[in-house]
Amino acid sequence: MRKQAIATAPPNIAFIKYWGNLDETLRLPVNGSLSMNLKGLQARTRVIFDEALLEDRLVLDGVPRSGAALARVSAFLDVARQMAGVSWRAEVVSENNFPAGAGIASSAAAFAALAAAVNAALGLGLDERGLTRLARRGSGSASRSVPDGFVEWLPGTDETSVSYSIAPPAHWDLWDCVAVVSTGHKPVGSSQGHRLAATSPLQEARVADAPRRIALCREAILTRDFAALADVVEQDTNLMHAVMMTSSPPLFYWQPPTLRIMESVRRWRDDGLPVFYTIDAGPNVHVLCPAEVRLDVRDRLLALDGVQDVLLAGAGEGARVLEELYD
Ligand code: DP6
Repeated sequence: MRKQAIATAPPNIAFIKYWGNLDETLRLPVNGSLSMNLKGLQARTRVIFDEALLEDRLVLDGVPRSGAALARVSAFLDVARQMAGVSWRAEVVSENNFPAGAGIASSAAAFAALAAAVNAALGLGLDERGLTRLARRGSGSASRSVPDGFVEWLPGTDETSVSYSIAPPAHWDLWDCVAVVSTGHKPVGSSQGHRLAATSPLQEARVADAPRRIALCREAILTRDFAALADVVEQDTNLMHAVMMTSSPPLFYWQPPTLRIMESVRRWRDDGLPVFYTIDAGPNVHVLCPAEVRLDVRDRLLALDGVQDVLLAGAGEGARVLEELYD
């Protein structure tokens, strides 16, 4: 007997960042976060639960994986198996249509797609909120890749820490121009970074102020107030990086081109161009702008020293199940 399904999900870019967990296993974040799904970019994941399999298998972008990557997927599958009351092992085959190392977190797309596929394959019957809870167990930010468009992820308990769409993709034609300055593997990944967050004396202040930033960001999105969004998103990312840089040990993700882009974006905005930046746990810079100026922004970014490539993505839908197959 086999039970299988295929699902897709996009990566997302956080406007208000998730950095630090209250509970690492349940991935309960210390603060709420808010993001935009990226259109045209996706993970496509097939899961096959097979009675005859002796252990879980993982194939990522055509390469069989073992070690930590497989262990993480297995731990996630255990959560789903426990919910369904089954012990079948599974094969997970996942492909991204965006380049690895482009500064776009692949774990969010991968675990959102895997959660949707597992829900369909095992007949868990989870609704969207339930699916965001399940995806959260694989990667915190994956919770935000399940609903459509602009998405808020609530902090809280295992029951209440869910994500929901605050506006559909068509609400605002915002684009993310991802300036790639390095495609190298980052020295310290997000999961490790979350563990260090509490060692920074600045984290407490960042977390205490998060509800204010979330409220400002939500309001700016709902009213399409670009200037207000720019202010709060840049402040939020600067706060997160201040925490990173003051952790023990400290995490420095910025490289010289990162600062060059930040400085240019601020200058362009002062000159009247609607742009703002945000940066995740890496050196690449996400530059957000309205659709009308995206090609201008891309060309300006490409002209800066150290920018290797620029990827463009608008606001997109969340996770979708493509097929359900039982035999
Ligand atoms: C800086 O969701 O990748 O991108 O739960 O350990 O998989 P895990 O962490 P992850 O952390 C994302 C960190 C961030 C900010 C954000 O996307 O909110």
